[in-house]
Amino acid sequence: MLIAEIIRKKRDQNVLDADEIQAMVTGIADNSASDAQIAAFAMSVLLNGMNRKEAAALTLAMRDSGDVFDWSTLPGPVVDKHSTGGVGDNVSLMLAPIVAACGAYVPMISGRGLGHTGGTLDKMEAIPGYVATPDNALFSDVVNKVGCAIIGQTAQLAPADKRFYGIRDVTATVESIPLITASILSKKLAAGLGSLVMDVKFGNGAFMPSFEKARELAVSITEVAEAAGLPCHALLTDVNQPLADAAGNAVEVVNAVEFLTGDKREGRLTEVVVGLCGEMLLTAGIETERDKARAKAQTALEDGRAAERFGRMVAALGGPTDFIEKHQSYLPQANLVFEVPAPTAGHVTAIETRDIGLSVVELGGGRRVSSDTVNPSVGLTGLAPIGANLGVGDPMAIIHADSQDAAELAKAQVLAAYTLGEKPDPAPIVREIIA
Ligand code: URA
Repeated sequence: MLIAEIIRKKRDQNVLDADEIQAMVTGIADNSASDAQIAAFAMSVLLNGMNRKEAAALTLAMRDSGDVFDWSTLPGPVVDKHSTGGVGDNVSLMLAPIVAACGAYVPMISGRGLGHTGGTLDKMEAIPGYVATPDNALFSDVVNKVGCAIIGQTAQLAPADKRFYGIRDVTATVESIPLITASILSKKLAAGLGSLVMDVKFGNGAFMPSFEKARELAVSITEVAEAAGLPCHALLTDVNQPLADAAGNAVEVVNAVEFLTGDKREGRLTEVVVGLCGEMLLTAGIETERDKARAKAQTALEDGRAAERFGRMVAALGGPTDFIEKHQSYLPQANLVFEVPAPTAGHVTAIETRDIGLSVVELGGGRRVSSDTVNPSVGLTGLAPIGANLGVGDPMAIIHADSQDAAELAKAQVLAAYTLGEKPDPAPIVREIIA
């Protein structure tokens, strides 16, 4: 089958059949399709779309381009969560051990920071000794023994998506709902999941700021997942402000440990974590009622079992054996730590969340180009949430920087990102659940 004919068919707004999609993906995976052909295919899909059947065929073909994990010997259901990316979004670090403590298995294959958003993998790598890219044998062993393992994508997992995504990234073809759907789901299916929960973000810190567009993506992912045999629920969550009050790598790990141990458990973050965990327990069949599923997750959090699982996971993947108790002494600290005082009095009415994320990138906590190394110690903490009532000089944020110049720039960026004024009406953080 000629690749050029497949592109022509999609260019002319026709529906591709599963064999044609398979031929395209084979060409991507074995390099028989050129970068130019792949880019042309991506653009033809971006412009002309794909129906659900085509998107499901693309998902399955990309899944099968590499290894597919088989967890059938595990005694419980296998479930994961995927977020479309936010700022201060450290949910995965708490959610994986909570769900494992409730009896499911969570083989979580996470990504690095992308643009202004943080990446779970970068956060876990802030922990000294933590092996974030173990071989398949160690990964399986930790999932078996601990119930959860948070690791990075291996080269053998959906390699067609890896090449395809790299080309989309530089040809302005990322923003296609069927292509995003197939990209995310191919990796999740290759991870061998029995069910999936999506956290689809909307708001000024999300890749897809408009609620309508985010909803369109959530519906596409849930429908294509079901068509590919993967039960999937989606939560639409608001990221018009950072989720945790910290953004960065080590600082988000500290925030996660404090959340797990109960030293600090902020309401908005709890709502998202428990909401997602509840949905995971429902899709996994561990509970059949939403309220009971959430209560189960909340109990695993409050009685300390989730914190204990997190500690075991860190140790099993090479980190310190007493990480929960002594995390502050293990995590890297920035040279300079200082407060950003509020310039005027008032309630926080709005936060340019994307700019907060970019400020972390500028501090060195993210990447400008993919070859950059991340500084795990830098970031922001104590981020005042929307609605906080600040007096003049009260701290709006705390900057963790490695140089005075970087700190001054971050201070200016934080000040510019915050708007103070009259008390705003609270907005719900979980806007909708698609089940
Ligand atoms: N994340 C992915 O994994 N794939 C996309 O296409 C977009 C975001």
